[in-house]
Amino acid sequence: MKLYYFLLLFSWGLSAQINVVPQPNEVRYHKGTCAIDTPITYLKDAQIAHPEGYQLLIQPKKIVAKYATEAGKYYAEQTLKQLVFQAKKERKQSLPCLTITDEPRFAYRALMVDPARHYWKIDDLKKYIDVMSQYKFNYLHLHLNDDQGWRIEIKKYPKLTEIGSKRKNFEGSKRNNEGFYTQEQMKELVRYALERNVQLIPEFDIPGHNDAAVAAYPFLSCNDTIIEVRTTAGVSKNLLCVGKESVYTFVDDVISELSEVFPCKYFHIGGDEAPLDKWIENTEVQQLKKKLQTTDDQQLMSYFFKRVNESLVKNGKQPLIWMELEVPTYPANSIMFLWRMRTTPKVLERALKDNFKVICSPGEYAYFDYPQAKDDLPNVGWMPTLSLQRVYEFNPAFTLTTEQEKQHILGVEATIWGESVKDLFRAFYMTYPRALALSEVGWTQMPQRSWQTFVDRLEGQLSYLWHQGVNYRVPVELAN
Ligand code: ACM
Repeated sequence: MKLYYFLLLFSWGLSAQINVVPQPNEVRYHKGTCAIDTPITYLKDAQIAHPEGYQLLIQPKKIVAKYATEAGKYYAEQTLKQLVFQAKKERKQSLPCLTITDEPRFAYRALMVDPARHYWKIDDLKKYIDVMSQYKFNYLHLHLNDDQGWRIEIKKYPKLTEIGSKRKNFEGSKRNNEGFYTQEQMKELVRYALERNVQLIPEFDIPGHNDAAVAAYPFLSCNDTIIEVRTTAGVSKNLLCVGKESVYTFVDDVISELSEVFPCKYFHIGGDEAPLDKWIENTEVQQLKKKLQTTDDQQLMSYFFKRVNESLVKNGKQPLIWMELEVPTYPANSIMFLWRMRTTPKVLERALKDNFKVICSPGEYAYFDYPQAKDDLPNVGWMPTLSLQRVYEFNPAFTLTTEQEKQHILGVEATIWGESVKDLFRAFYMTYPRALALSEVGWTQMPQRSWQTFVDRLEGQLSYLWHQGVNYRVPVELAN
């Protein structure tokens, strides 16, 4: 009798196995089913402790969604949409009765796109937001300037877009690339994203990666260098000049205008890949070094961020920074990106020591411009590969063990750098299905995560994407 009962329960449990990504943190199955056109009751409920948390109760005659904020309501809806899609796909008229009690593991779950290297139309950004928000990503980081393009209107500096948004034949390609977003367009995109619980984070990458800005305004560089918007990949030495007051006025103006457009408290100021050669050669910079009473050139970088942070604080913003280990100090309110390959232990050590929060975007797990398998794509053979399984295996807490240490991890982000990502079609191909894995990395607690059940859910999820016209990569290596 007991064995019979067990088998019954087991088989019923299996057939009721739901397909939701990211995997909800608690699912309790009940007896019975609920017709899929059953109306939904929405209840604001102060008992739901997490602002993004929700509870979904599916009962024989009713569906109830409980939440504390609009974010939680949106996520209850996303979970339910996936359940309904799965039922219809299996030609069922009903959902299994269950209670889902869910909230995110990490507060910050992001994707980054790079319209600086290749311009994206606003409608493409909207489509991208539509899809990511279904998987409970809550930040989209926009890399808005780089050597190869400046993409956002700044009213005080019109040449940034007149000159900086236009580029000729990148890496020998015959296709020119140009385009920028007006502030009005971007404000509308901010509203569109917020309706989907996605906050837009602007990145104004400084002091490196600024050939497009210097092409528009040569005074920004140390030697008033005359250049064109860069047409190759790589790292430029034409940094914004740390020794010129006019640079801080420029930075302050740009930050002030962008702060009006983007209400998010986070503001990314880049900080990556900034070789100091042109600073070191420059007499104004040498005078600044004397004033700072330092012989360490990297102290100039710390000084630069201190000044930039004054503009951010004035505008109510908090800096996000691509951390470089050689920079001696960063503003105390900064949030650090862990990104460079092979630097994880050192970055974590520094974060604990200097009390920084960290966003985990390590090359080993989260660089989605890397191909998903060897020889998958032409012209990116020099890049490492990043498989779906590897992304799934990512645990952003790494080796941190105590609760206090783990508090330093704010969340996760995948970067879709744009040098080889020329349009939305390719961006979706690089993003999916790896972003499904990353959504679970950011949302689901470790004990509820399992590569095997993720693989079991994959076919249904790819079908979900297919029905939305999303170009994903078929993970052929998983077929057997
Ligand atoms: C970066 O990959 N340059 C942050």
